[in-house]
Amino acid sequence: MPLVGLGTLHATDDETTAAVEAAIDMGYRHIDTAYLYFNEAGVGRGIRNKIAQGVIKREDIFLTTKLPHTHLTPERVHVALEKSLARLDIGYIDLYLMHSPLGFLPTEDETNLYPTDAQGNHLIHDVDHKAVWREMEKAVESGKVRSIGVSNFNRRQIQFILDNSTIKPANLQIECHIYYQQKELVNYCHSKGISVSGYGPLGNPGLMAKLKAAGKQVTNVLDEPTLQPLMKKYNKSAAQILLRWEIQRDIIVIPKSTNPKRMQENLDIFDFKLTAEEMDNIAKLDQKLRVYALPFSKNVLESKDFPWGPNDPY
Ligand code: A2P
Repeated sequence: MPLVGLGTLHATDDETTAAVEAAIDMGYRHIDTAYLYFNEAGVGRGIRNKIAQGVIKREDIFLTTKLPHTHLTPERVHVALEKSLARLDIGYIDLYLMHSPLGFLPTEDETNLYPTDAQGNHLIHDVDHKAVWREMEKAVESGKVRSIGVSNFNRRQIQFILDNSTIKPANLQIECHIYYQQKELVNYCHSKGISVSGYGPLGNPGLMAKLKAAGKQVTNVLDEPTLQPLMKKYNKSAAQILLRWEIQRDIIVIPKSTNPKRMQENLDIFDFKLTAEEMDNIAKLDQKLRVYALPFSKNVLESKDFPWGPNDPY
């Protein structure tokens, strides 16, 4: 699994095709998408175009996609998987992740992914993780998927899968950046042989800018003052320092960009190395601050499957 992947959240199908093509040309070999990003068709088209041009072979690319929260019942795993396979149209999937431990009302209605009752409470359902994981394992056994993993699970939920599975999760994907470092969960996964990918490694600067414009007090991780001397010393941007810090912690990064200049910048992080002291100084910046969130209604917060409750230490 290449250490740097192209993230695609919030990019449309057409934007994604252009970004994937440019990414492959500049050397990206890992692309991250999801059923819920509604751009799998664009991702697949970009990859197929580059295969047709002879730039890559299918096996050169590591493609991740994800089972949505609306399909967390055993019967629906394959419904979602078949849709993703058809949209991507590149044969197999390299890594298939359960996108969330928490399930919303199973639905085919893709215009209402977070259904609510008349009081505005989300319609969620209790997930049978063991049964859903068994279907994930069958996806591997069928050859449609090469490896499986989970996203947004906490330690308790990962341990449950480890205790109730034949095929162990290969990867955990979680939000991870300097203000939300997830040290304990990362160490736990690494101790179990589970690789960790970090989404939002740049701290979701688009959302931070919107919050700031709305008068909220937020700090954009790209503006973190501790990064300034490092940027000068290594002649690198804030984004490059942030990404380098993650990969030196053995965390795979998937920064999203559709801008070729920034995509190139995010890949150019293999020609310098932060010292142990610099790594430690950045480690002190943790604020346990999550910037990506689920819609947190009462039903979500009270669900047995909510991953970030007060009784879940990490
Ligand atoms: P864009 O697609 O216009 O490049 P994250 O992965 O942390 O959520 O960050 C994604 C956001 O960060 C996107 O809005 C993306 O915008 C922007 N972004 C991606 N790469 C960089 C970079 N190197 N410098 C600044 N912003 C970036």
